[in-house]
Amino acid sequence: MTLTVVKNEEKKYTDKIIQEQRPVYSTNNCNLWYGNHHALKNINLEIMEKEVTAIIGPSGCGKSTFIKTLNRMIDLVPGVKTSGSIEYRGRDIFEKKFLVEELRTRVGMVFQKPNPFPKSIYENIAFGMKIHGIKNKKVINEAVEKSLRGAALWDEVKDRLHDPAYGLSGGQQQRLCIARCLALEPDVILMDEPTSALDPVSTLKVEELIRELKERYSIIIVTHNMQQAARISDKTAFFLNGEVVEYDETETIFNKPSDSRTEDYISGRFG
Ligand SMILES: Nc1ncnc2c1ncn2[C@@H]1O[C@H](COP(=O)(O)OP(=O)(O)O)[C@@H](O)[C@H]1O
Ligand SMILES: [Mg+2]
Repeated sequence: MTLTVVKNEEKKYTDKIIQEQRPVYSTNNCNLWYGNHHALKNINLEIMEKEVTAIIGPSGCGKSTFIKTLNRMIDLVPGVKTSGSIEYRGRDIFEKKFLVEELRTRVGMVFQKPNPFPKSIYENIAFGMKIHGIKNKKVINEAVEKSLRGAALWDEVKDRLHDPAYGLSGGQQQRLCIARCLALEPDVILMDEPTSALDPVSTLKVEELIRELKERYSIIIVTHNMQQAARISDKTAFFLNGEVVEYDETETIFNKPSDSRTEDYISGRFG
């Protein structure tokens, strides 16, 4: 009797979680061309909040293009055309009245090579906040500490906040870049092969961090590293020649893919 009650309570609890989880992005027949080159073809993906979504696929298949489209960084490339829609929290990001600046504060990005500013560790975080109009020193100080803690870097740097960021190791620099994102309290963090320039130990640290961050943020990560996708993501999308071949639970993609091309790719037959 007691057991059943507990089970029901548990079920209610899981049902609640399932109900409350919403898509952060929905793409609807999204296409993108660089001039005549059709780089994204009819992408239909629903990306859920507070999950890690991995984007995998061989070089040149459109992974970076796709995530640069999600925060409209792609606007910086001349001659790009798009069709279809991408909804972020229910609003079409290609719509004229959509505020790109707002999108970019809500959606942070971490790149392949750590790219801290040539400034102190402290300023790397404070600078972005100042650009976004935050001036109160107390607020900034608190955010610096909170973000560095959030990026699992605080203990390593708390005694040298005013030293140059370039003095940090590659892995620490990448966690600093993640901290810089966190300071703006984003909703989504896009990561384009964030560990490909890091050694194995730093890679595992960043992976551990990603697993922690998904409690609070939605993370979309491009990775070349199949084991990494399997280790850290909830869902995986396999891209090939600008198309999504398969999108599913990571476990399904890696253990029971439904498309033979997915199977060939994950078993290392090409790519
Ligand atoms: N700025 C650009 N101008 C023209 N073509 C581009 C540009 N960026 C990428 N491409 C092309 O678009 C395709 C997808 O590239 P990309 O998104 O970088 O792939 P991935 O990240 O999967 O390696 C490739 O064929 C690439 O050559
Ligand atoms: Mg790329």
